[in-house]
Amino acid sequence: MNWTTDNQKNLMLLSGRAHPELAEAVSKELGVPVTPQTARDFANGEIFVRFEDSVRGSDAFVLQSHPAPLNTWLMEQLIMIDALKRGSAKRITAILPFYPYARQDKKHRGREPISARLVADLLKTAGADRIITVDLHTDQIQGFFDGPVDHMHAQGQLAEYVKDKYGTENVTVVSPDSGRVRVAEKWADSFNGAPLAFIHKTRDPLVPNQVKSNRVVGDVEGQICVLIDDMIDTGGTIAGAVRVLKDAGAGDVIIATTHGVFSDPAAERLATCGAREVIATDTLPIAPEKRFENLTVLSIAPLLAQTIQQVFENGSVTSLFDGNA
Ligand code: R5P
Repeated sequence: MNWTTDNQKNLMLLSGRAHPELAEAVSKELGVPVTPQTARDFANGEIFVRFEDSVRGSDAFVLQSHPAPLNTWLMEQLIMIDALKRGSAKRITAILPFYPYARQDKKHRGREPISARLVADLLKTAGADRIITVDLHTDQIQGFFDGPVDHMHAQGQLAEYVKDKYGTENVTVVSPDSGRVRVAEKWADSFNGAPLAFIHKTRDPLVPNQVKSNRVVGDVEGQICVLIDDMIDTGGTIAGAVRVLKDAGAGDVIIATTHGVFSDPAAERLATCGAREVIATDTLPIAPEKRFENLTVLSIAPLLAQTIQQVFENGSVTSLFDGNA
């Protein structure tokens, strides 16, 4: 008997039902099929999942995207992780390209939950050993999960696209609020030290998705403004920022975001806000009716596939987004 083979892990890719196109794209990049499974919904909303192949001893990667209704997709991912644990998978990595509830990462007022922490606890309790995610709303969410978190960034891919198409001359990188200035600085570095500006934004803590973009801090006159954000939900923040930039004399405004949540009326707002182009990745599925004319969607699949491979081979994932080992 060859005892060493018993200790070798085999990579298995499992996918929830939220974004099959992304799972297929990752599978193709990796050269590993998506493990066939049965998934059913019961009349009362309960979900049932069963894998068709043995998962015993596997290094299992459970990919799930979290568009609306995200509570359903989160529950499905938890159930899949539970099935893997009970099926004796050797290691379970939960892949959440868009981390749900990331905006609830702290208590703003008394008697509020920290739901991003709860999501991490649920994943751990279900049996996840580690997490792979992309562009968390705030970096500190990494610390919510008791285990390794590979926090990947789409900035390299998005910035390369913008540079190839619009160059680096007369570019100002714009943060849509003061909280994202640090990220905007990294973008500015990748545009050869381009100038920075940010929008002074205020929000009503009692009304979700309601923001007011007040004024731009920085000189944007005649500049190509690269307006960045981690996510676009209803589009209120970004459309308001474009208006303020245009009022301040900006030239073209290019919007780059990782997560195209695109809750209504985002598509309409983005199509008519005056931006030249909106670039998003496919961490979330974007329905055909929400694909407005000046929208470009870049695939996150290569980055996810490379990350899975590095994790499986105990390589370096940092090198995938900053070029350093
Ligand atoms: C806020 O801090 C986030 O980074 C986004 O700017 C915001 O959540 C987007 O939401 P909406 O598109 O609804 O304004």
